[in-house]
Amino acid sequence: MSEASTQQALTAYVNGVFVPLEDATVHIEDRGFQFADGVYEVVACFGGNFLDLQPHLERLQRSCDGVRIPLPCSLDKMATLVQETYERNPFEDAMVYIQITRGAAPRSHLPQGELTPTLIITARLLPKPSDAKLASGIKAITLQDIRWKHCEIKSIALLASVLGKQEAALKGADEAFWLDEENHVLEGCATNIFAIIDGTLVTHPLDHQVLGGITRDMAMRVAKEHGLTVEERAWTLNESGLTEAMMSSTTNAVMPIACINEQTIGDGKPGNITMQIRGWMLEAMDTLRRG
Ligand code: PDD
Repeated sequence: MSEASTQQALTAYVNGVFVPLEDATVHIEDRGFQFADGVYEVVACFGGNFLDLQPHLERLQRSCDGVRIPLPCSLDKMATLVQETYERNPFEDAMVYIQITRGAAPRSHLPQGELTPTLIITARLLPKPSDAKLASGIKAITLQDIRWKHCEIKSIALLASVLGKQEAALKGADEAFWLDEENHVLEGCATNIFAIIDGTLVTHPLDHQVLGGITRDMAMRVAKEHGLTVEERAWTLNESGLTEAMMSSTTNAVMPIACINEQTIGDGKPGNITMQIRGWMLEAMDTLRRG
């Protein structure tokens, strides 16, 4: 099913009410619009069952705390609203988007007084990676990290990521990965990244330079359950023993990376360990789908 093939109108939640998506609006002085003063989450739902909803909501709470925006409602209430948004839309597998901003007020950098946060929730069809990309692996580039120093907060201020994605697209690549000053590989514009180095699953440790991806956690969890060694450490693309690379996100599970900056990874085909990890993750998603 594609979004275009569904006849049912889409429904959004905006500040306490469900409305048709085309009528869903917020104030032009919303601080999200004027200052990118807000945070967000993207959660996947498989056949009515959410994958790791609680960890997503807890990260949303941490993001709100990190920018001093009060949560507009309890996490339990948020879970109910997320479920209801899913149910009011026609997709079996959906990605639900939650955005919280500090609210609407006359423009002033310093937030004045007690504002009412804006909460919006939408559901769209969960995009599926193309079979061609899965078979070939994706192409990627690297860029020096130009983002702010709080990447652990899932902020809606995504201009650097938009520019990174554009740069990648201009070079015929699918994702751009950020490098720190010592050329350690941090994460992508909208993904985390792992390498297989000497048979070990390696990814940058959690700090202010990477988002603590919920899918990153899942990939590490299933890898450990199946006996793989997992290491969270700084790494570079020049390490000998690097045979595979993969990226992870809610909308991708893990996807194989075939080349980065024209450097072929391994033999340039999706790696065996990568595809095993992907298979284990898809099994968990299928289990959710079956209820
Ligand atoms: N992006 N790193 C960044 C910078 C991200 O934006 C994302 C997710 C991830 C992966 O996080 P998770 O596994 O929790 O989805 C890592 C979402 C999907 C987005 O912006 O659409």
